[in-house]
Amino acid sequence: MKYQHTIKVNKDTCIGCGLCKKDCPVNNIVIENKKSVIKKQDCLMCGHCAAICPVNAITLTGFDEAPIELTEKPNLDSDTLLMAIKSRRTIRNFKEKEVSPEIVKQIIEAGRYTPSAKNSQDVSYIVLDNKKRVYEEAAVKFFRKIKPIANIAVKYSKEVIIDDNFFFKNAPIAIMVLTKDKISGSLAASNMALMAESYGLGVLFSGYYTDVANNSPNLRKLLNLKHGENVVTTLVIGYPNVKYRRTVQKETANVRYL
Ligand SMILES: Cc1cc2nc3c(=O)[nH]c(=O)nc-3n(C[C@H](O)[C@H](O)[C@H](O)COP(=O)(O)O)c2cc1C
Repeated sequence: MKYQHTIKVNKDTCIGCGLCKKDCPVNNIVIENKKSVIKKQDCLMCGHCAAICPVNAITLTGFDEAPIELTEKPNLDSDTLLMAIKSRRTIRNFKEKEVSPEIVKQIIEAGRYTPSAKNSQDVSYIVLDNKKRVYEEAAVKFFRKIKPIANIAVKYSKEVIIDDNFFFKNAPIAIMVLTKDKISGSLAASNMALMAESYGLGVLFSGYYTDVANNSPNLRKLLNLKHGENVVTTLVIGYPNVKYRRTVQKETANVRYL
């Protein structure tokens, strides 16, 4: 985690119920004299202890936000969710319509709340909007240069035409997701895409742009990427200019029940 946090137990309000101790994934809480005591301050800082406390006696310092009281669990309808997943398509044709900054913020919020390995919360985001063209141009230049190699190594490469809008397809924004742990970044991106869908937006995960951002020294310099900073994926986002009339067929799941 980037910042220092401290867990505090309010001894006056703690009732020593032990729920926090039971739920702590790193066994960092003991009950002494019928009160919770935090053993070490260098734990995961996952916040489970504060979230589960029935009397709100535990607080974590150093965050910009207060916890939200949960009166009832939000109802996520499973049929609607599955249909949203099934009907989602990769969008490569976008309307000339801006995505509001509020929506971009909500999409990033979906990433921010996604779990990360060891609660590292080290996923970061680069939003390309107004100056997107500059970052696309540099990628196009690099890609045209390496195309002959890709033509040998990649199956469909020969047929691919690299026009000036090859990466962002005239979409209004692209959000690059960066993190050391690829799984954490991918999970964040997946939730972000789902959030984008909920606003009627379409998403293209651009593997091509991600590869160029990770490999072109010129583009990395332009994007101000630091040494070792790894782009996990790039979400190209905008309002779809296409309408799919049916779902696509997917192969059956390869599942083993043991
Ligand atoms: C990690 C990842 C990278 C991808 N990269 C590209 C890309 O660079 N360009 C592209 O046109 N599609 C890209 N796609 C889209 C896939 O080709 C697409 O998901 C697949 O063909 C299935 O189509 P659907 O998403 O509409 O179901 C990518 C998808 C994923 C998950």
